[in-house]
Amino acid sequence: FSSTSSNNSSSGVLPPRYETLYNKYSEVRRVLGSQRLTLAEKILYSHLDNVEESLLSNTNGGRDIRGKANLKLKPDRVNMQDASAQMALLQFMTCNLPQPVIPASIHCDHLIVGSKGADEDLKAGIATNNEVFDFLESAGQKYGIDFWPPGAGIIHQTVLENYAVPGLMMLGTDSHSPNAGGLTTITIGVGGADAVEALVGAPWELKAPKILGVRLTGKLNDWVSAKDVILYLTGRLTVRGGTGYIVEYFGPGVETLSLPGMATACNMGAEIGATTSIFPFTGASSRYLKATNREQADKDAKNFENFSRGSGQDSFFKFKADEGAQYDELIEIDLSKLEPHINGPFTPDLSIPLSEFKKTVQEQKWPEKLSAGLIGSCTNSSYEDMTRCESIVKAAEQAGIKPAADFYITPGSEGIRATLERDNTLQTFEKAGGIVLSNACGPCIGQWKRQDDIPKGTPNAILTSYNRNFRGRNDGNLETMNFLASPEIVTAMAYAGSTTFNPITDSLTTPDGKEFKFPAPKGLEGPQTPFEAGREVFQVQSGAPNPNVDVAISPSSERLALLEPFEPFPDSDLSGLRVLVKVTGKCTTDTISAAGPWLKYKGHLPNISENTLNTAVNAATGEVNVAYDLDGSKHTIPELAKAWKQRGQPWLVVAEHNYGEGSAREHAALQPRYLGARIIVTKSFARIHETNLKKQGVVPLTFANEADYDLIDAGDEVATVGLYEMLKNGGQGEVSLRVTKKDTGKVIDIPTKHAVSKDQAGFILAGSALNLLAKGN
Ligand code: F3S
Repeated sequence: FSSTSSNNSSSGVLPPRYETLYNKYSEVRRVLGSQRLTLAEKILYSHLDNVEESLLSNTNGGRDIRGKANLKLKPDRVNMQDASAQMALLQFMTCNLPQPVIPASIHCDHLIVGSKGADEDLKAGIATNNEVFDFLESAGQKYGIDFWPPGAGIIHQTVLENYAVPGLMMLGTDSHSPNAGGLTTITIGVGGADAVEALVGAPWELKAPKILGVRLTGKLNDWVSAKDVILYLTGRLTVRGGTGYIVEYFGPGVETLSLPGMATACNMGAEIGATTSIFPFTGASSRYLKATNREQADKDAKNFENFSRGSGQDSFFKFKADEGAQYDELIEIDLSKLEPHINGPFTPDLSIPLSEFKKTVQEQKWPEKLSAGLIGSCTNSSYEDMTRCESIVKAAEQAGIKPAADFYITPGSEGIRATLERDNTLQTFEKAGGIVLSNACGPCIGQWKRQDDIPKGTPNAILTSYNRNFRGRNDGNLETMNFLASPEIVTAMAYAGSTTFNPITDSLTTPDGKEFKFPAPKGLEGPQTPFEAGREVFQVQSGAPNPNVDVAISPSSERLALLEPFEPFPDSDLSGLRVLVKVTGKCTTDTISAAGPWLKYKGHLPNISENTLNTAVNAATGEVNVAYDLDGSKHTIPELAKAWKQRGQPWLVVAEHNYGEGSAREHAALQPRYLGARIIVTKSFARIHETNLKKQGVVPLTFANEADYDLIDAGDEVATVGLYEMLKNGGQGEVSLRVTKKDTGKVIDIPTKHAVSKDQAGFILAGSALNLLAKGN
């Protein structure tokens, strides 16, 4: 590799990935002229399939395409976690290709239950899920996809440590994939069908995001971490505030953050609904690449920034925004003024400064006893996080204090685990009574068998350093109040066993009656010597595709089932649909397709469909998971959906705002489709879910007038007006719903809005995106 810093050299040779990026970027510059670009735009637009067509779709050029143009993108790689990889691979298999056209990886992380500790849990997890792991491993071998076995680590940590390098564009079949934005990539969380599009080389479509700039100044104080930046932002922007935006961090404060800190902030951008988040390439990024044994990647990135084949500043690709780049929204945060935050319960945007938390707990009558503190996960298991927590544990140990609440630690990867073991950090946690869980998602995704066995329905409070806290998410108990905080705050509060304890101002009493105040946490950004690889059995399996490998699925399997294509759209508008259920309140992808024990059916569509909408609240009665048939008989929602499927009765769901927020869970689109849903009509949708619905051939519509939600009820008969025409016209045209009231027979026309693009109209007409792709191969 060589490059040059000369302004007009063409003699340099770039590694292939940067050669492609540079060529595309040169096209972007040619088309946009002197337009100033944000960092996100530079990387994103340099992955366009057809630069000119996309960027000139608006005569005012690039800035004006934001929020308007449909970008057709060619990502560099795809990363899949085990729960979503099953469906992605089952879909990929129906396309009959020998291997994906871009590199990909599978990470076995979601299926291991956390309970007694890593070794025991992992054994049990492998025994329970062997069939699925075998399927994924054999698919990896057959198609030449990297396979990270159970225990190797959580997808986002593994990707950050191994695959993320500045300038890449990746898709990940998990909503926290933007974690890799901390290392200056554009990484977007998608469903399996999107992943398959990228794997087969079809351009992947995205509405050009707007850019939300977050300018950081100052430097974090002792007890404050990068997690608090995003906890604070989530409170300020709410779970919908980032929808349609890429969050781009910049400003002098960025230089003061560690690389994993930046990744944490990007990870939790998912909580504000952002398309993704990104940080510039800094000294910390460079140090992280070296610490993770990627000196060459660091050199390549730096050389690339100094490479040019043209003249003038715009002929260089710098991993930061152009001077004068415009943001659609701008938020300024002075890191020096930020204090720790605790967010929750039940929603990540209920953000409370630590100094006000005690008062809030008492006013709201939340439990004052803290039953468990959990640190780690894909969000916060860096060397820095863990060594900061270690300093707290050591101080407490010297004072003779043990944690008053259960204390769990989840390392994000075998690499980080082995390094923390080498440096004695894990031993410090264990000596204090902490339980080190396996390198897997565990309690973060409902895979938690609690030691304290708190009966379901018992109100209690837990504190985690994870990213998401929907009701029931961690232990399946709807009354567990789950608060989010930085790992150091979680650790200190676990010692107090109290939700009203403020480690910055309050003291604990030692066994010999002395007053003990935690010193401010201190940690190391990274290890003194590079990361350990860890145990052999947890290393990646990688190799060329082997067509002789059989990806066998037993016909009697309860976990895996080959897919049948969905039927195409009829040659007319839809009629005779019935409203299966009208949902009130939050309807997340967890509500539509619950995780926890259901994760085991991710590869078996008929079986997992038994959970469809099983925590949705019926708007008419307030009951959870209750729907009424046309004769008035009472059923669970999935039971009624199944009965209607058997009767050939197509249906729709009516819901409120941000329908489908939460994990990028394509099952939340696949299951209703499988059971007979044709339309979902809401006040608004979460972006990924809306796209997923269209890919599975379900039509997402929103009320043109929000108040019309009140006009339509469960059991009403619905016909579409203009839908078929709109689809035939590639997404152009108005659609309304003609509703015949179940009780009175009165007919009402309800106008709706849609965001169906030309390609998506094609998916819906074909029955699903996959139907179209399979035709193409
Ligand atoms: Fe896993 Fe939780 Fe992260 S489910 S990928 S640890 S958000």
